[in-house]
Amino acid sequence: MKKSMMVNGFSKRSKAGKLSWVAEHGFDNPAEAIGEFQSYWLDNEERQRIYDRISENTISNFILPYGVAPNFIINGKSYTIPMVIEESSVVAAACNAAKFWMNRGGFQATVINTEKIGQIHFYWNGQRELLLRHETTIFESLLHHSKSLSENMIRRGGGIKSLKIRTFEEDPDYYQFLICFETCDSMGANYINSILENFASRLDDLFTEWFGPNCELPDVLMSILSNYTPQCTIRASVECTLQELDQSELNGKDFAYRFKKAVDIARMDVYRATTHNKGIFNGVDAVILATGNDFRAIEAAGHAYAARDGQYRGLTTCSIEEDQFRLELILPVAVGTVGGLTHIHPLAKRSLELLGNPSARQLMKIIGVAGLAQNFAAVRSLVTTGIQKGHMKMHLINILNHLDAKPDEIDRAIVYFSDKIITYSEVRKFLENIREL
Ligand code: MEV
Repeated sequence: MKKSMMVNGFSKRSKAGKLSWVAEHGFDNPAEAIGEFQSYWLDNEERQRIYDRISENTISNFILPYGVAPNFIINGKSYTIPMVIEESSVVAAACNAAKFWMNRGGFQATVINTEKIGQIHFYWNGQRELLLRHETTIFESLLHHSKSLSENMIRRGGGIKSLKIRTFEEDPDYYQFLICFETCDSMGANYINSILENFASRLDDLFTEWFGPNCELPDVLMSILSNYTPQCTIRASVECTLQELDQSELNGKDFAYRFKKAVDIARMDVYRATTHNKGIFNGVDAVILATGNDFRAIEAAGHAYAARDGQYRGLTTCSIEEDQFRLELILPVAVGTVGGLTHIHPLAKRSLELLGNPSARQLMKIIGVAGLAQNFAAVRSLVTTGIQKGHMKMHLINILNHLDAKPDEIDRAIVYFSDKIITYSEVRKFLENIREL
């Protein structure tokens, strides 16, 4: 019978104590489970401690492949892009897209804007007009009371940029201060949240100062940055003549029109748009992870941005004008290259080094390009050969690895299955056959 999974004081146990509790309570063979979890501990204890401290209740390391995609030309400069991802074919697709565009002018990328947002949410029974009239006073007060917290950021060229009071008809007593920030090379979450909480904690006193000693006091509900960053966006694009798009299976013009139709469908249809955007995030998330940034934040912003006019749409647009093909992605990408995990995780630090220690603005461009490249590769396969051809080769290798195939068996299987349908049972049968010979 399975033991109860309820426990008191778990976080107080040592790492080994946590692991043995988990093994005892969650696995049929605790000794084997402990052995397996421990086999992923790093020999270098100091380094292991870095990973243990990143999160809580850590009992092991979960390894993901770290791949690289060379040959990316972005604004005329070459890059090898680091990608951390579990899905096979994503890195290969990035490499193909990079090579394809390498000889067609490469990728172009520009930062459109870099503003981040924070919100103080509060309830207030006072006169709405009175509060709205004080918007400038409130902003000045915010700047004044945030001076010491902002000092460093201002020195780096950032700081608090604006404040707006928002109201909602659905709930007349609910107010919001929507505050815009520039956080330079940091993602800025700690800076923004500190400013918000500090200012929110002073609001009782400030309201009294502004509206007199007998005024209604605000009831602050919460203060937190917003992950929706529609003013922190990049534009990535590729462009070439139709002739330059000639494929082995299709001429350039036919390919371009098929491609554009696929992109247009994702602009109209939510089912296709979701998959289309998932493909974009295959590239985006892989670079975000490799550089120690927060992929959930970028995904949340990207999906909200995709639905900004009320309909969820594909994030890329495609145009064909005269004989010119253009594919473009505009995406909110709020990332940092200092602070957070970027310099704590040894490989995130290496990723940034591999990218030439970019500023946050440069990293935004690289991430946008990774998303666009992925979208180009996916849609190109979909409208020509179909996606399974490329996927299946990787799938075959995964099956072979799962069946403990040796390197020469893998080579033979790749040749054998090059023109056959790949299923788990067929691959197992193939291995059994060659092993019997
Ligand atoms: C698979 O991970 C991503 C794709 O489905 C994206 C797309 O359909 O555009 C291939």
